[in-house]
Amino acid sequence: CGIVGYVGDSKSVEVLMGGLRRLEYRGYDSAGIAVIDDNGELTTVKRAGKLAVLSDELAAHPIANGRTGIGHTRWATHGGPTDVNAHPHLGDNGKLALIHNGIIENFAPLRAELLAEGFTFLSETDTEVASVLLGREYQRVGDLAEAFRAVVARLDGAFTLLAVHKDQPGIVVGARRNSPLVIGLGDGENFLGSDVAAFVEYTRRAVAIGQDQIVTITPTSVTVTDFDGVGVETEEFDIAWDASASEKGGWSSFMAKEVSEQPDAVANTLRGRIADGHVVVPELVAFGDDVLAGIRRIVIIACGTAAYAGQTAKYAIEKWAQVPVDVELSHEFRYRDPVLTSDTLVISISQSGETMDTLMAVKYAMSLGAKTISICNTQGATIPRESDAVIYTHAGPEVAVASTKAFVAQISALYLFALHLARVRGTLTDAEQLTQVEELQAIPEKLATTLLAEDEVRQLARYMSDTRAVLFLGRHVGFPIALEGALKLKELAYIHAEGFAAGELKHGPIALIEPGQPVFVVVPSPRGSAHLHPKVVSNIQEIRARGARIIAIAESGDAAVLPFADTVIHIPLAAPLFEPLLAVVPLQMFAMELAIAKGLDVDQPRNLAKSVTVE
Ligand code: G6P
Repeated sequence: CGIVGYVGDSKSVEVLMGGLRRLEYRGYDSAGIAVIDDNGELTTVKRAGKLAVLSDELAAHPIANGRTGIGHTRWATHGGPTDVNAHPHLGDNGKLALIHNGIIENFAPLRAELLAEGFTFLSETDTEVASVLLGREYQRVGDLAEAFRAVVARLDGAFTLLAVHKDQPGIVVGARRNSPLVIGLGDGENFLGSDVAAFVEYTRRAVAIGQDQIVTITPTSVTVTDFDGVGVETEEFDIAWDASASEKGGWSSFMAKEVSEQPDAVANTLRGRIADGHVVVPELVAFGDDVLAGIRRIVIIACGTAAYAGQTAKYAIEKWAQVPVDVELSHEFRYRDPVLTSDTLVISISQSGETMDTLMAVKYAMSLGAKTISICNTQGATIPRESDAVIYTHAGPEVAVASTKAFVAQISALYLFALHLARVRGTLTDAEQLTQVEELQAIPEKLATTLLAEDEVRQLARYMSDTRAVLFLGRHVGFPIALEGALKLKELAYIHAEGFAAGELKHGPIALIEPGQPVFVVVPSPRGSAHLHPKVVSNIQEIRARGARIIAIAESGDAAVLPFADTVIHIPLAAPLFEPLLAVVPLQMFAMELAIAKGLDVDQPRNLAKSVTVE
């Protein structure tokens, strides 16, 4: 869910709606705002459906602007996406409005307690339990921040809560436990948001809030305490993104814009981290070369696309730095008994830095004594704050739900990490370092060339728009790319898609091949991977003999695949470990174009949310 809070000049509706627009990628099945207008009236408007439905409602029935308000865009957990279940929820006889991100796990007993006391509920949500509880406490203590302290002590689970009360205009109070919340500092106005995108239009100054803290904003003050009301130190930072970076500009979709931004995403991630042909990641220098030199094992944890970035980087880290790497889905890692020691390094990868499964896995790893590094694209997010060190990817804000530019930036950051580690451990010669660095630095330009395949891919997608199932094959670093290609197609075009390791084909998946079945094959370079290339070409022949329609992603000049492929999409020449950064691009474009051909919303696919801040 996305959350925004505002106190300041009389423009709350405008600020809240602008903030929600920028946060809509966090959830888009319903939205609502609550505003205390200049006459002291608290008005709440909420609607099921995308933010546009709420905008239309506010255009048809405008509400008075005010100085104080909160807004919410929802990804449903408890209770379907209806008007009634949308946030804000009310308490204290309609005088208090509250929004929530997260899950209140003990909502059932709390609800029973409140029902027994005669309170009533309108919705099926866990959130309304918090709003009614907060209303009850407010009646008791007459102060929102104090009432919050009493409420958070009763709640189990993960939450960010923001509330306003009619009797305390000019104040928004928020509390967080494990769900995201940042403060934006303005001039005579202050903001709260799930992330800085909520208020970047108005201010570039932000303050990160720690876990289990309560924040009160007024137009001229910001107070942060722990759950017991004891003041805590906060840390201000400047927001590196400018507001226009999270605008669609002239593009038809955020996805199209972000796919095209991939050369910059990589170039910006490399910037400042390569000197004289060697990788020196400043954030890792602070982490300590001696610590890195002593690492015996690396575990990468992530979800979704980020996990495929991890799977791709495993090959490079093991080859260059010669440290064993395991890649695991965060939610699986956390609920088994992984063996971690103080010489294990856990690297989390998360574009948002807020994915709950990954956050919990990081905390778990730390509790077992492991060291943690976060690869993250969002400043001030929770996961980097909780980790021992962070390497930010500088891909710029990624708004489309399906991740694209963050993926190539994550792989680039992990390659920087791998080369830094290799240097510290002395596992690559100087000449080898230089060669890899050159390859890495050449990627932005090669990505730009890869993007030129756009028309060709669009044509292919249009031609295939009634396809019901697509298979993806890859080998070595092409394997995670096959998985990512399949994920993109599922997410965006709602087509059943599966990725396989090409070598595994004969152990089962080949039974799926029937005449006309489309299969994308990520073909390794005939030069760089001379030992693998013929094997993949054989795989192609095996499935083609059974009627598959082959779409090959192959290096320019690879003549060997031509006779066996129905379509070949060429990518520029690159050393084997760098091919995935290029090969993924046509697969992203294919999924996007197929979704467009089917008339689907590529930025906000059904049922998904960009940052999943619940477990
Ligand atoms: C969600 C998104 C995916 C993303 C994953 C991990 O499932 O829909 O696109 O890859 O979360 O997100 P993160 O922010 O942790 O990279």
